[in-house]
Amino acid sequence: SGPDTVSPTGQPTGVEQARMAQSGAYLTTAQGTRLYDTDHSLKAGPRGPVLLQDHHLREKVMHFDHERIPERVVHARGAAAHGVFQSYGTAAEVTKAAFLAEDEETPVFVRFSTVLGSRGSSDTVRDTRGFATKFYTSEGVFDLVGNNIPVFFIQDAIKFPDVIHAGKPHPDREIPQAQSAHDTFWDFVTLHSEAAHHTLWNMSDRGIPRSYRMMEGFGVHTFRLVNAAGETTLVKFHWKPKLGVHSLVWEEAQIINGVDPDFHRRDLADAIEAGAYPQWELGIQVFPDTPDQTFEGIDLLDPTNLVPEELAPVQPVGLLTLNRNPSNYFAETEQVAFHVGHLVPGIDVTDDPLLAGRLFSYLDTQITRLGGPNFPQLPINRPHAPVNDMQRDGMHQTAVHRGVAPYRPNSLDGGCPFHAGAETGAFVEAPVRVPEATKVRQAPESFADHFSQPRRFWLSMTPIEREHIIAAYTFELGKCYEQAVKERALQVLANIDPVLCAEVATGLGLPAPEPTVPLADVEPSPALSQVGRTWPTE
Ligand code: HEM
Repeated sequence: SGPDTVSPTGQPTGVEQARMAQSGAYLTTAQGTRLYDTDHSLKAGPRGPVLLQDHHLREKVMHFDHERIPERVVHARGAAAHGVFQSYGTAAEVTKAAFLAEDEETPVFVRFSTVLGSRGSSDTVRDTRGFATKFYTSEGVFDLVGNNIPVFFIQDAIKFPDVIHAGKPHPDREIPQAQSAHDTFWDFVTLHSEAAHHTLWNMSDRGIPRSYRMMEGFGVHTFRLVNAAGETTLVKFHWKPKLGVHSLVWEEAQIINGVDPDFHRRDLADAIEAGAYPQWELGIQVFPDTPDQTFEGIDLLDPTNLVPEELAPVQPVGLLTLNRNPSNYFAETEQVAFHVGHLVPGIDVTDDPLLAGRLFSYLDTQITRLGGPNFPQLPINRPHAPVNDMQRDGMHQTAVHRGVAPYRPNSLDGGCPFHAGAETGAFVEAPVRVPEATKVRQAPESFADHFSQPRRFWLSMTPIEREHIIAAYTFELGKCYEQAVKERALQVLANIDPVLCAEVATGLGLPAPEPTVPLADVEPSPALSQVGRTWPTE
């Protein structure tokens, strides 16, 4: 049996009780004893010393002293909303996941975020945005923990601490708070050429979205879907905003940072309150699950790669509508715990080495951030499917478990309904063949091309988008103190495109270097531009 919903004394527990936490006509202590005064400490006479025996004083101040929890190590600043996901039922051919395959409505909670700033930083900084969705499906929780940029800085999670150390404020002065305009950021992304693609997206208008409601979202990694017949397909997930993709211009972003640092969270909450519910279509790009896991020469396990939509069109599978603001920021937006490993039958991971590290990292960090291993019991994290696990005890345990034998098989809690086996609708890992191999610490050859995808992005931009990109590189690199870092950045740009490099070099007052690799011969992908996009479909 799972966590109780009724206490031994018949009182509601769990979500119901959490909702009722502040009920009742009287102000009480945390123990429910009514108070007659909460404004004055107990003293020996009106001007006398405060007495240690004042339990209310001690309890109130003690609780206040512990109100803060650690902010997220990344994506600390966010805003979220509740909503529903209505499946079109069109994905049944590729997945058995009921919330996609059937004509189902699934409750969701979505948190948008910046990546580098602390919890109190501003919204309209130049940064990547998080786009994390928790689907409370009938088969368990599925989290799609994505960004508004379809590629990532690095190819292997072992470098994640490094890229974040470089992107966060300098350890000595702790500046800048939330911008990419600093030496360590540029030092890292110019010493790691695989970061060139993501950095170019950051310097484009995608780095300063107009509204969370007007951002695309991407699962980034390639995932593996499994259908009812056990056949597998590789996919990339996309969120397409019904309002289209729109950005601020840099001057607007800077002014708004001062005038209204909460611009994006206010915009999201106000729109929902006014009934202008933001919507996104979920779509998938579908690729055959071939042994080499490539598509048109693109390695699908390399998270610095995208697949142009002209080569693999995004096929709509459902509609997300955000229709309710959280009623308590801490309980919901702050305590929500997403995880790329929260999967349901029909959706599985691939061997993308960045994804592998994420599968460890989120669970690990949440133990610290949310104070122990029982955070799945927090109301915002609870599955809407029945839970029957063997997790017991631990810090902040709120369930009152029944039975004496939390192990399987057992002969004591015989009445406990527990069935094993794939036929019960269990999650079963796709039986993917692991090639015979030797242990190595190295990237595959197919991860080595770092410039053709950024070049395609640059070539796909309209003239005004290119102008913005040039201005962004010039501004951000202009903030660096180290000349060598600026010069190395120009070398990266030269390998993407000579015009881009020359324009930024002029802006910085430095000579433009020659490329060190042959310029890639790639076709533009018009779908990468924000201008004149054909999405959303009607
Ligand atoms: C948080 C996306 C790579 C570690 C987040 C969040 C998003 C996200 C959206 C915020 C979740 C929320 O709103 O609560 C991504 C994407 C990645 C990526 C799209 C690459 C494709 C990584 C990697 C690691 C990592 C490689 C570590 C190896 C974390 C951690 C958090 C986080 C520790 C904080 C989680 C928490 O405190 O609940 N990430 N991330 N991420 N990410 Fe990632």
